[in-house]
Amino acid sequence: MHSSTRLLTGGVLLSTLLTVNAFYLPGAAPHDYKDGEKVDLYVNALTPMLSGNEHAKLKSLINYDYYDPSFHFCTPEGGPQKQPESLGSILFGDRIFNSPYDIRMLEQNGTCRALCTVTVPPEDAKVINDRIREDYALNWLIDGLPAAEMKLDTKSGDTFFDMGFNLGNDDPPHEEQPLLNNHYDIVLRYHSPKPGNHRVVGVLVWPYSRGGGQDGSFDCESTVEPYRLREDGPNRVRYTYRVMWNESSTPWATRWDNYLHIFDPRIHWFSLINSIVIVVFLCVMVSMILYRSVSRDISRYNAIDLSEDVQEDWGWKLVHGEVFRTPQNPMILSVLVGNGAQLCSMVGVTLVFALLGFLSPSNRGSLATVMMICWTFFGGIGGYVSSRVYASMGGNERRKNAFLTATILPTLIFAIVFLLNLFLITAHSSGAVPFGTMLLIVLLWFGISAPLSAIGAYFGNRHGGISHPVRVNPIPRQIPPPPKYLRPWAATLLSGILPFGAAFVELYFVLSSLFASRAYYAFGFLALTAGVVALTTATVTILFSYFLLCAEEYRWHWRAFLTGGGSAFWLLAYGLFYWISRLSLDSFSSVVLYLGYLFLLVILDFLVTGTIGFLATYWAVRKLYGSIRID
Ligand SMILES: *[C@@H]1O[C@H](CO)[C@@H](O)[C@H](O)[C@H]1NC(C)=O
Ligand SMILES: *[C@@H]1O[C@H](CO)[C@@H](O)[C@H](O)[C@H]1NC(C)=O
Repeated sequence: MHSSTRLLTGGVLLSTLLTVNAFYLPGAAPHDYKDGEKVDLYVNALTPMLSGNEHAKLKSLINYDYYDPSFHFCTPEGGPQKQPESLGSILFGDRIFNSPYDIRMLEQNGTCRALCTVTVPPEDAKVINDRIREDYALNWLIDGLPAAEMKLDTKSGDTFFDMGFNLGNDDPPHEEQPLLNNHYDIVLRYHSPKPGNHRVVGVLVWPYSRGGGQDGSFDCESTVEPYRLREDGPNRVRYTYRVMWNESSTPWATRWDNYLHIFDPRIHWFSLINSIVIVVFLCVMVSMILYRSVSRDISRYNAIDLSEDVQEDWGWKLVHGEVFRTPQNPMILSVLVGNGAQLCSMVGVTLVFALLGFLSPSNRGSLATVMMICWTFFGGIGGYVSSRVYASMGGNERRKNAFLTATILPTLIFAIVFLLNLFLITAHSSGAVPFGTMLLIVLLWFGISAPLSAIGAYFGNRHGGISHPVRVNPIPRQIPPPPKYLRPWAATLLSGILPFGAAFVELYFVLSSLFASRAYYAFGFLALTAGVVALTTATVTILFSYFLLCAEEYRWHWRAFLTGGGSAFWLLAYGLFYWISRLSLDSFSSVVLYLGYLFLLVILDFLVTGTIGFLATYWAVRKLYGSIRID
């Protein structure tokens, strides 16, 4: 909200994007604290957490504001202040506020302090208890570092920092009410490069539940019974905390290493390498088969042409007068391809940024911000590709094409996000995208993306359609019924297996980071996987289109797009499997949210892989028919 109101008043789009930290790299500028300097503790939204054990399931997908009135957390004097955030950070659900915790560098080491005492009415106690049962976690930030709980990876025996810490605990299960954590031991690790200059290099929080009298004297060591919120009458809750400063030898540059823990990296590596080897092997085999049979076909066609009278064509050569016939609905197809090309470029550039290390988790929301900006500025690519593909397929309603390219997909995505937002608002979630941010996105779209798309379309039209190596016959041929495996659905599902097989290991991590708020940082793996998927999609689509043309089915345009996008159907199936195996969503809103985001992901994947398949096949078909002699 903050950032976008500034935008609307300030009016200068780009400079505002810069000032709202879109390109701010906290990783590049350490903050040196003097003795006694205030260290700010910021609070972020409460998120559902995957508890440590392996069979744990995520129970909700809805975030809540820390200062949601039903939680009754202590507020700072003068009310909570929202902190400026980047666009991506807002889209990914960060809602950062200041807090009343009084932390000063190296002061009050180990002093037990009370923050405030609040009264929680029974109806809010019930809400809090429900959130505890759903494993909600508090997310604090100190000097850009998330507060974490130290955990032990039972497989490797390493300790690591798990971001966020529990709101409460649901055990022992035989009790009616769960435990509420109302005391926090905050251990701040610091590193002093120079005497008198200190840097925060680790934030650990150990939450405890402390029962007993909540008014009067207190003591952080107390070993009295834990605290439970009663749902049959008002509760008094005292929040206490203690800050401990602990010197660390970790330098500032590597302070994130403890957070970026990979569970069982060997399995990760092994399965990834395994799938890459299989896929590369398949690609090589497929290309070899294709290359050998095509070159044999070509030499046979050309030889027969030389040997006088008997002109017996067969296979793909038969349809040379048909392959470049205008397909059905060239308008829709070219719009899909244009938008797919825009998304492909966005994914590619984002991955390059990620590989260069710009999008580390220390740079909150940078991934989504870079994606939004790339998508906006690649509107030109979308318009250009769409108009050229449209012209190549013989379309002549150019303006309509340019208009639809710039509007259809953004409208669809916006409509879905808007609907999901309505659900979030009714669930009182903080995850709802604020109105100002929505406005900012619409502005980016109408102010930058759409005009760029129009400019791209103008240049695309100037360059015109691609010339084709063979002419189209005036009368269409009859098409014989294709073999079973080449029917549209069979071919689509069959061809989708390979790209999906290359990606599904990485997909698991991506889904976990999207839905279970795990940090994702294995961009090397991701870029590699994306490359393999693109390669496999292109190869498999070309192969299937070749079979199609051999079966004298010449309507390859749509089929290539569909075959390329085949992996999206597997992605959908995998998403549903993930839902069953890893999530146990109780609330209707969470289910709608999950299915909505999954659907969005599937659409985008379909567009990207479909476009890769279509463009690769277009290239291959032109090469194929350019290499034979037609009389
Ligand atoms: C703070 O106290 C802990 C033990 O309670 C001690 O290990 C640590 O060195 C102390 N830190 C400072 C800066 O005095
Ligand atoms: C401080 O660090 C040492 C070793 O790094 C550890 O043994 C000790 O428990 C830490 N102190 C606190 C209060 O966490």
